[in-house]
Amino acid sequence: MGSIGSGGAPPLIEADHIVKRFGGAIAVDDVSLAVQAGEIHAVVGENGAGKSTLMRVLAGILDPDEGEVRVDGQVLARGTRSAIDAGIALVHQELSLVPEMTVAENILLGAFPTKAGFTEYKELKQIAADALEEIGVSVDLDERVKRLSVALRQFVEIARAVARKPRVLILDEPTATLTPAETDYLLAMLERLAAGGMAIAYISHRIPEVFRICTNVTILRDGKQVLTTPIADITPEQVVDQMVGRELKRDLATHRDAEPGEVVLRAEGIIAPGVNDVDLQVRAGEIVGLGGLVGAGRSELVRAIIGADNRTAGKVALTVGGKVSMLSTYQSSVRNGVAYVPEERRTDGLALTMTVTDNIRLPNRKQLSKAGFMLGGKIKEVAQQLADKVGLRPPEISREAGQYSGGNQQKIVLAKWLGRRPDFIVLDEPTRGVDVGAKAEIHRLVKDIADQGTAVLVVSSDLPELLELSDVIHVMRDGRITGTLGREEANEKSVMSLASGEAEVKA
Ligand SMILES: Nc1ncnc2c1ncn2[C@@H]1O[C@H](COP(=O)(O)OP(=O)(O)OP(=O)(O)O)[C@@H](O)[C@H]1O
Ligand SMILES: [Mg+2]
Repeated sequence: MGSIGSGGAPPLIEADHIVKRFGGAIAVDDVSLAVQAGEIHAVVGENGAGKSTLMRVLAGILDPDEGEVRVDGQVLARGTRSAIDAGIALVHQELSLVPEMTVAENILLGAFPTKAGFTEYKELKQIAADALEEIGVSVDLDERVKRLSVALRQFVEIARAVARKPRVLILDEPTATLTPAETDYLLAMLERLAAGGMAIAYISHRIPEVFRICTNVTILRDGKQVLTTPIADITPEQVVDQMVGRELKRDLATHRDAEPGEVVLRAEGIIAPGVNDVDLQVRAGEIVGLGGLVGAGRSELVRAIIGADNRTAGKVALTVGGKVSMLSTYQSSVRNGVAYVPEERRTDGLALTMTVTDNIRLPNRKQLSKAGFMLGGKIKEVAQQLADKVGLRPPEISREAGQYSGGNQQKIVLAKWLGRRPDFIVLDEPTRGVDVGAKAEIHRLVKDIADQGTAVLVVSSDLPELLELSDVIHVMRDGRITGTLGREEANEKSVMSLASGEAEVKA
């Protein structure tokens, strides 16, 4: 596929027969793609299909092994500098902000305005303020990024790209951390930027979004370009089928009606930053969902419950086999069989320089060692089984975790905890960034461990997921539980109206 059109202006940005290898493996295999000014071009594919790699090549972060990138028909010299100079900005899949620095400093990171070698703070703040205004987000410029919600960090990340006044904006799964309302906001903003002449490349696992704002779509599978087409010429089902290379089995939500057992987790009067006097129980074999908007205090609540963050008041008791343990610190939680899959997997969940096997081995020590030494053969076998179960691609458990694509890293974190068969597990956004096929697999796994008696507490901003998994949903707002919905009453509307404060029904 070469440039589109004959005699017209060249596309604003063009990737021409790009090949990128890592060692022996081929991540991007002869992919060509052109984006015009004013166009929003979707790039979709399963986890590990090569989307992020292709985008990093476009942004000059990775040099292609073959092929070239052109801007306005001119071949782009290698390296990030020339990509930045050509007006290409990339919003990474994983947040890349510096937590200890302020919002303003982060927005201008690497491009501080200076005068005689000194940073011009006034100018820096002005540029940052302008960028935030451009995207219509208000946040204190002097606030340290570590104090912001994940959603706000995502917007700061976008402001950072926009501050460079790019002509080409590449976004790698920008809505993964956002709620529906925040997503709407972002999508409207992108349409506005495109209408102003920007060329936008957009990666997402959320197919409905793609159909809402994109003009064209490129589908990748195993590094290869399956198809590039105007969005008007394809249906969402066809996109998914092309992504997975077969017809995806769209099985109906499996209903679990096992009776939950005794109360395993009992939290009472939990008060912590962002959490305002919450009581909560989870029974053996039960999946309890926490719904609400970002900032409602769901992650804060689960972290306070397991002792990952300090609580100001409240008691948490874990009852397993008649034995009651009080959970005060995170160490005591882990010691007593509690598992936690955090929202921020890269910083909290995974040792990136260790192999998949070693990552899985970490929390499984008790189960896999006999008389104090590790059973090398057994761990490999167990790790391989778990990797297959979560659909790790490629399923090479001796690879370093950091070499896996974003969605696959999430699968590794899940595998390491699910394999432990914990008594109580907390899953915070368990399938963020996971592709549609693997998502269904992971839902099945979560239901399986519940069926085996684990008490499950799940936080998800993905409403269909929350509804599909949960036996009961507590909806939070402003640090409190504002309503509780059983399977019968729970639907997108009832959850959202409680989350937004539109209705306050007590069960
Ligand atoms: N630094 C690296 N070293 C080795 N292999 C890598 C590296 N980065 C990516 N890969 C491999 O390249 C392939 C494509 O990965 P990429 O991150 O582009 O996928 P992706 O489509 O963005 O997936 P996801 O939806 O999970 O983000 C994968 O097989 C991945 O394991
Ligand atoms: Mg990716």
